[in-house]
Formats: sequence, structure tokens, C-alpha cells
Amino acid sequence: MVTRAITSTIVGLEPRRVDVEAHLVLADLPSFAIVGLADRACQEAKHRVQSGIVNAMLPWPSRNRIIVNLAPAALRKEGSGFDLPIALAVLAGSHQLPAHRLLDHASVGELSLDGRVRPVSGTIAVAEGVRRAGIKLLICAAESAPEAALAGIDVVPVHHLAEAVAYLRGEEDIRFASPPGSDDLEEPFVPDLAEVRGQERGRRALEIAATGEHNVLLAGPPGTGKTMLGRRLPGILPPLTRDEALEVTRIHSVAGTLPTGRPIMLMPPFRAPHHGASAAAIVGGGAIPRPGEASLAHRGVLLLDELPEFPRPVLESLRQPLEDGVVSVARVGGHALFPARFRLVATMNLCPCGARGDPTADCGCSPQRISAYREKVSRALLDRFDLVVAMPRPRAEELAAPPGEPSAAVRERVVAGRARLRDGDLLRRTEAASALLDRAVDHVPLSGRGRARVARVARTIAALGGAESVLPEHLAEALSYRSPVGVPSA
Ligand SMILES: Nc1ncnc2c1ncn2[C@@H]1O[C@H](COP(=O)(O)OP(=O)(O)O)[C@@H](O)[C@H]1O
Ligand SMILES: [Mg+2]
Ligand SMILES: [Zn+2]
Repeated sequence: MVTRAITSTIVGLEPRRVDVEAHLVLADLPSFAIVGLADRACQEAKHRVQSGIVNAMLPWPSRNRIIVNLAPAALRKEGSGFDLPIALAVLAGSHQLPAHRLLDHASVGELSLDGRVRPVSGTIAVAEGVRRAGIKLLICAAESAPEAALAGIDVVPVHHLAEAVAYLRGEEDIRFASPPGSDDLEEPFVPDLAEVRGQERGRRALEIAATGEHNVLLAGPPGTGKTMLGRRLPGILPPLTRDEALEVTRIHSVAGTLPTGRPIMLMPPFRAPHHGASAAAIVGGGAIPRPGEASLAHRGVLLLDELPEFPRPVLESLRQPLEDGVVSVARVGGHALFPARFRLVATMNLCPCGARGDPTADCGCSPQRISAYREKVSRALLDRFDLVVAMPRPRAEELAAPPGEPSAAVRERVVAGRARLRDGDLLRRTEAASALLDRAVDHVPLSGRGRARVARVARTIAALGGAESVLPEHLAEALSYRSPVGVPSA
């Protein structure tokens, strides 16, 4: 007899239904084979399923030839989430639980050798796939049940295979899991802008970047607060909308980077990859395509600290997400698309030794070394930084000044500015502002892309200022953040 358990797996970020079929026949030579999985994963699943069943104190059908097929066979499957549905299909095939119960339930979960059910990455996406397949119930590990419940289906949380079996036999009632409420979520720690002394221009650029979607480059000598400032951009971004939160949560769930204690991400993510990370880790990709840092920063902030230290190919591959908000990764039989709309904050020194721009230090770098350093970052990439800020060494009295404005106060202006930006009819350029922009195209000079970016920044500045339209002063401020060579020379 053939029994079937239903599950779902993730391809890229998208769930796909998988049917786990088990065929058991009495045989002189008992065997257990799984087909439709990659070879190694298959061996591992066999061991876990067999010892999981035995350790749940359930008889292993040892007089049977058992074949498990994961359909569709053409779909490349990986991961350990098939353990639980495989075990349930085998148990139904050996009449240890009613087979029909498996047709209105889906299941997902890894089994440990002692039969415990462990969470798997991408549970929220699996649960969405289950819902789309028209199944209303999902059995999964208790730890990931609140996350699964976000998909809007009934979720049966289990700790152990024995519990799942008792439930399916109707011997045990299990309360469906509730999605996480905002009360039981730990807030991530975000450092506050109040700690930054001086650097008014850098703070202003951050506020503009938070309001519109703009990229910031902070350039200056070491120890001026560039990294400090960059880390404080997430703290002035408003919380995600519910749809954004689900979208961001799905990406982090699939990547296995959901913070513990936070099954849903309500705040914009912050990612700061090291310059030694591989291109696949930063942009995304790999044999089985995985979202990279660019996608993990989706709707949040990507900080590239010490920009010129990143290998140039990595930086160049960030141009696509910076322009289109997506990363497309080649995979067998096509492309996987990962969303990657983030605010980029980058920092850099002005020369290899770092002393340039610092009146208290002597720079010994030759012009050749300085231009070699700057050329590590291409013109095309520099062109995508809307806000380039020179960070001077703070003066003694600035460092002794009282704390700056806290992030919460800045965030209020950001929220108000965004609301004005959404009103498309407001905030047109005045004629004088347009004339200024046209003159700037020749004088700065600005590329076509640069012109459009300056216009967008000016609009954000007008929105922050509560203006009715984009005035020359807004344009002038927007232009002041662009320098002809991208990086200020001192
Ligand atoms: N503007 C500033 N206000 C307050 N502290 C600062 C400032 N600039 C630097 N610091 C102090 O110096 C340390 C190093 O700053 P950092 O942001 O790492 O500098 P950078 O990235 O420019 O080299 C910070 O942790 C902080 O203690
Ligand atoms: Mg730094
Ligand atoms: Zn130098």
C-alpha cells in the first residue's frame, strides 16, 4: 500500500509542495530506500528516521521493503525538513497511524536520533507553501510554531515524534500555536545617536537617507565616528509595516538568521559584513542559491565599513541590487531572484595611511598611492552614493559638548518626512530649482543617473523641511553632498 504525507520545501525563497510517498511490501530481504533526494541527504535522513521511530518506542517495520519517494522527483530537494513527513508516511504505511489523517495535515521538521522534532530554516515560507497548497494544518517543531503561525494556518506544535503520532491517532489534543504578539518579542539593541558628538553634517545625511531611500558614504580620517554613525542609521528608521515584516522574516527564516527570541522581524535589519566575506556571502548565490547579506539587509541597512578593503568584484556585483533592488542568482534551470532593497552606508579613509584630512597628523601617501586607493571603488559605484560626507576630526569643544539629539527624536522627523514623500502631487520642483539642477549637470558635472539621484535627494530634503515644493535651497543642499570625484579631497 502507498501512503502519502504532504510537505513543502523552499527553492530560492519560494515554497514548493512536495509529496512524500511511502510504499511498504513484505519481503524476505528487508530494505529502506529514499529516492528523490540528493544522495548524502538521503542517507542521513534514513538514519534519523529509522532511529527516531525506534526511539519513539514505535515498531520499525523490519520485515518490509520500504521505498520512500519525494515527488516531484525533478525538484531539487535538500535539507532535513523531510524527516518528519517521511517518518509519518512510513508509520502510516505500517498501520501505526490512520493514513487519511496525513492528507489534511502537512508536516515539516528534522528528527534527532532520539526522536525529538527540531526546527528547520524557512519554516514561515514552508507554512505559506502549505497554505497555498490548500492544506490548513501544519505539524512542526514547537520552537518554530509561532513563526509558522504567521502564515495564517493552524499549526500543531510538537516536541517529539511520539507526540505527533499520538495527535494523529487522536489520542492527544494539542493546542494550535499562536503567532508571536509584539509583547513577547525581544527588541534588538540599537545604539543611539545621542552618543555621537558633533558631526552635524553626517547626522543630517543619515536623517535624509532614512527618510528617502538614499545611500551614504562617510569619508574621513580614522577615529572621527564614521563607523559609529553608520551603525546608528537603523535606529532612526521606523518599524517595518506588517507586510514588510513578513517579507523580511521570510528571507531571514530561509537563511537561518532569524534572531532567537524573535520569530518575526519588526524592525529594519542591519547587516555589516566583513570585507573578507565571499562574494556569495555578500551578494547571494552558491550551488543551492542562498540569500546574501544584500538580501538579509532588505528594507534595512547594509554597512560596508572600510569600503576600499572589499574586493572590487564584490563591490561591482552590488551595483545590480543598488539599481534594481534585487539580486538575480544563476541556478540549475534558471535564475533565483532575491529581494535586496537596502540603504547602503559605507565608510572610507581619504588615503591608505588614513592621515589625510586630519590637521593633527601628517600624511605621507604619494599621489599615486592615494589614487590607487580611491580607484578601488569604481566611479560607477561612487555614482550610487547620493550623500557623500567628509567627516572632520571633531574639535575638543565638540567632544566636550552635551549629548546630541537622541535617535527617537530624529525618527519622528523621518516618519513625518516619509508621509509627505508619499504624497506624489506635493513636492514638485519650482522653475528656479529646475534651472539650478540643469546648470549643475554641466558644472558638477552630473551623469544622467546622478541628475536623477540629486533630484530625489532634493525632494527628500523638501519633505523633511515640510515644504510645499522643491526649492533651490533644497537642490543646493542635495548638490552639496555630491562631489565631482565622489570622495571629498580633504
Ligand atoms: N563624533 C564622535 N562623538 C563621540 N565619540 C566619538 C566620535 N568620533 C569618534 N568617537 C569615539 O571614537 C571611537 C572610534 O570611532 P569610530 O566610529 O570607530 O571611528 P572611525 O570609524 O571614523 O574610525 C568611538 O567608539 C567613540 O568612542
Ligand atoms: Mg571605522
Ligand atoms: Zn595618507
